[in-house]
Amino acid sequence: MTIKKILIEPNRLLRKVSQPVKKINKEIQRLMDDMLETMYSSNGIGLAAIQIGVPKNLIVIDLLTKDKKKNPIYFINPKIIKKSSRMSNYEEGCLSIPNLFAEVKRPSECDVEYLDYNGKKKIINASGLLATCIQHEIDHLNGILFIDYLSKLKRDIILKKLSKQKIDQKRLVI
Ligand code: NI
Repeated sequence: MTIKKILIEPNRLLRKVSQPVKKINKEIQRLMDDMLETMYSSNGIGLAAIQIGVPKNLIVIDLLTKDKKKNPIYFINPKIIKKSSRMSNYEEGCLSIPNLFAEVKRPSECDVEYLDYNGKKKIINASGLLATCIQHEIDHLNGILFIDYLSKLKRDIILKKLSKQKIDQKRLVI
């Protein structure tokens, strides 16, 4: 497994709409293994393929809630088929917008249809953090970032902090 570089906003690839996976083969599985490894190495709980520059409808999630034991879920071609009308707020972050967080309101439950690691069709009823995470990751597949839900003022503050972080990181490298 290889740890890949995670794209940081602003990056036009993060705005690209990803495409469905037509055939699940070793190459796709290897890509998902790399995504998971990359996510774990950055202490993330979810990652979409586009975040490592691959515009395919692939997501990996591991909430690491049960005694910190690894319990990854692989989603191939995920699709939300039902959303609750009840909404909930969660302070979201994103590996492509490191160290910055903001509250986002989303449906508190959703049903998602997807293919698993081996191509088996599944439906999951997600609630709580899992529902938030799945919706956040599926947004990535459509080129949407959580900051898009914020007011322009809040979004601009985050983008400004992000560009400052980038400059600081460059300084550290030197
Ligand atoms: Ni994200």
